[in-house]
Amino acid sequence: MENPGKKAVYIKTFGCQMNERDSQAMENRLLREGYAVAVRQEDADLILFNTCTIRDKAYQKAMSDIGRSAVHKKTRGAKIGICGCVATQSKDALLTRFRHVDFVLGPDHIAELPMIVAEASAGSRSAQADHVDDPGKYVFIDGASKESIATASAFVTIMKGCNYACSYCIVPSVRGKEVCRPADDILAEVKQLVERGVKEVTLLGQNVADYKALPEMSEGQPRMKLGWLVRYLSSRSSIHRLRFTSPHPRDIDDDLIAAYRDETVLCDHIHLPVQSGSNRVLKAMRRRYTRERYLDLVDKLRTARPGIAITTDMIVGFPTETEAEFEESMDLIERVQFDQIYAFAYSPRPGTHAATIFADDVPVTDKQRRLSALFDLERTCARQKNEACVGETKHVLVTSIDPKKPGYYTGRSSDNRIVNFPSEINCIGNIVPVHITKARGHSLTGEWKP
Ligand code: SAH
Ligand code: SF4
Ligand code: F3S
Repeated sequence: MENPGKKAVYIKTFGCQMNERDSQAMENRLLREGYAVAVRQEDADLILFNTCTIRDKAYQKAMSDIGRSAVHKKTRGAKIGICGCVATQSKDALLTRFRHVDFVLGPDHIAELPMIVAEASAGSRSAQADHVDDPGKYVFIDGASKESIATASAFVTIMKGCNYACSYCIVPSVRGKEVCRPADDILAEVKQLVERGVKEVTLLGQNVADYKALPEMSEGQPRMKLGWLVRYLSSRSSIHRLRFTSPHPRDIDDDLIAAYRDETVLCDHIHLPVQSGSNRVLKAMRRRYTRERYLDLVDKLRTARPGIAITTDMIVGFPTETEAEFEESMDLIERVQFDQIYAFAYSPRPGTHAATIFADDVPVTDKQRRLSALFDLERTCARQKNEACVGETKHVLVTSIDPKKPGYYTGRSSDNRIVNFPSEINCIGNIVPVHITKARGHSLTGEWKP
């Protein structure tokens, strides 16, 4: 242990970027309480499982890791907490299922972490897991703190929850309704990050395109949604790059498209989850847009920002999806030529509309076959797109040394590509021009001449 006198916390993160950011926020809270960070679970006095339940696999993985942590309770007397979306999903039932677990703390209660840890140390077991949907009661907490290590890029939460009800999705039930964070709070966090050397901020929320600033922020402007927020942050801070994830396609308005046209602070990338290329399936998914509307949006974005990288999420094997409907998804991929796709086999989630009204009727073998056909097409697309980058110069925000290649550094281009290049000087935290010499499946290699 680096700090023999201090208690140490180990946080295991299972979920999405929001979950990752929550882990940072929890870590920062505990650092402020005098905790150190344990590198290994077996050295920790406090173990937090920041769980995810988006698909059954994520849920099962969390369950098995929590189960296995009983040994650390026995050997070290470690306190164990279940956080994240499974906490909200199962609440105090988790205390019954896992006798060795000390507390359950949902993502809307991170501010209460020090208190629940103190109670656990005094021997009580409790669950604090309901989601908080009242904007007057919800507390947004900064992910950054002076105790945490500065990085080149950081996440900033701009809203929590989701007002959609996509039929397959468990998120609205575990994260609750949307609550937007006041723009000045967001600006203050961004400024604080800039002071600490952060160059790139990713604005986070389940549906960031539905961000709404408080009316008193309007300053006479008609729209105060995400496009407005981008301009607000860009004009009042010296942040170099902004990204956001994820926007629901239905909420992307002309103002946001105009921000892509005008605001150079916005990166050349958008993650725009489509889920399916079939209108019938989209309807059954309750996505509330058509493939035509999606394709139109793609055109508008490419007109506003030529060369913008577009990435997406897709689900294969949604109940009742036919082979022909899957082919419509493949056709949409061909048309859009996505830069990257995150694809998943449908997984029924308890309490969701789809799981209630449909049988999970696409056989596993069909789901797997569709998934691998989709990945084959995705690889071809991504490789072609990457090959087209050879010869270009990309501005790369250097985030770390390349763990796989000594003497190499790694970072991200504005269009969200991973770029590796050799350098004799430590350039972490800088944005440097890299001449691309080679394309790989999901990354680029290049040269930087300082
Ligand atoms: N809020 C984000 C999505 C969060 S979930 C958005 O709307 O864009 C991330 C991705 O997981 C989704 O885009 C979807 O592709 C996938 N997903 C969600 N529920 C799923 C389920 N039940 N089975 C399979 N994939 C799912
Ligand atoms: Fe889930 Fe749909 Fe909300 Fe995204 S928009 S979090 S997929 S319900
Ligand atoms: Fe998982 Fe919760 Fe994120 S279910 S994907 S950790 S919002």
